[in-house]
Amino acid sequence: MANKILVTGGAGYIGSHTVVELYNAGYEVIIVDNFVNSNLEVINRINEITHQKPIVYPIDLLIKDDLEKVFSQHKFDGVIHFAGLKAVGESTQYPLKYYKENILSTINLCDLMNKYDVKNLVFSSSATVYSPENEMPVNEEGKLRPSNPYGRTKLFIEEILRDLYQADNDWRIVLLRYFNPVGAHESGLIGESPKGIPNNLMPFITNVATGNLKVLKVFGSDYDTVDGSGVRDYIHVTDLAKGHVKALQKNVNPGIRTYNMGTGNGYSVLEVIKAFEKATNRKISYEIVDRRPGDVAVSFADPTKAMEELHWKAEKNILEMCRDAWKWQSKNPNGYN
Ligand code: UFG
Repeated sequence: MANKILVTGGAGYIGSHTVVELYNAGYEVIIVDNFVNSNLEVINRINEITHQKPIVYPIDLLIKDDLEKVFSQHKFDGVIHFAGLKAVGESTQYPLKYYKENILSTINLCDLMNKYDVKNLVFSSSATVYSPENEMPVNEEGKLRPSNPYGRTKLFIEEILRDLYQADNDWRIVLLRYFNPVGAHESGLIGESPKGIPNNLMPFITNVATGNLKVLKVFGSDYDTVDGSGVRDYIHVTDLAKGHVKALQKNVNPGIRTYNMGTGNGYSVLEVIKAFEKATNRKISYEIVDRRPGDVAVSFADPTKAMEELHWKAEKNILEMCRDAWKWQSKNPNGYN
């Protein structure tokens, strides 16, 4: 019998790509998702790619009784916890909503994992937990100081999980700190489908390329970087998804371990635009505007620890990220809608 994994938020962008890689690695998958930021169609697409159909529970982790039904029906070997709100700007407007949804849902989940003796967790954290004062590349020992409520929910959950492990050394926990996931499955069947106007760079670029949006605003040209625009560590979502499988496979002994998930390379906004144009043969019109409040100049990972301990390395380059983002968007101009 294959190992059975519960994936919370498994219908979302990173979740759905991870479900595909779990199937490729021979796992059995159960999804819980409240579909506030995802679409049931993704399940058909996962089926097209893998010829497998996950059981899906359309429930909210805040309603613990609903989640308990799932635990009572299945014996899980582990949990990958993606579910949560993730818009930085919205989190500054509605902090309580973010603290409630992200933190309480994680507490409900861990309570039930305790009760049903499933003490094996991979948690979706973020590079946003790091202080902007760290020198780049930043490793897992970097100073922690998120600059917005969304980032603080990730840090607080990390702290809760560290306390949980201190209190009960049976737990096996991996915290994965993602840098900037982009791209899509190479089939073009699943990808990122943000509701409304995208906040993030890559979906904005692909929407300019389809003509859905007119012009990309480049936030800032006076950062101390190669060309003045902000630098980030973009990572192909399939590489990131494979990192979760490696984390699960590694998570056999009790402990709490933290890994950066990035490539170790930084690209500026203007370099990403150029790469996209080269990979897709399309022109992206853009204009340079003021910095976006809250943005840092440069963020990129030191991924050495994940290479050494998980034997994982991001393999896809920026051109492949752009090519696959475009394949997805051009085949699905309105995402799953
Ligand atoms: N950018 C633009 N124009 C846009 C959107 C973004 O120039 O329309 C720039 C940003 O200024 C930044 C870069 O593109 O320099 C990347 O911006 P994203 O919004 O795509 O990503 P961020 O690095 O700001 O945020 C991401 C995740 C967050 C996470 C954060 C920190 O979206 O969830 O990384 O790790 F918190």
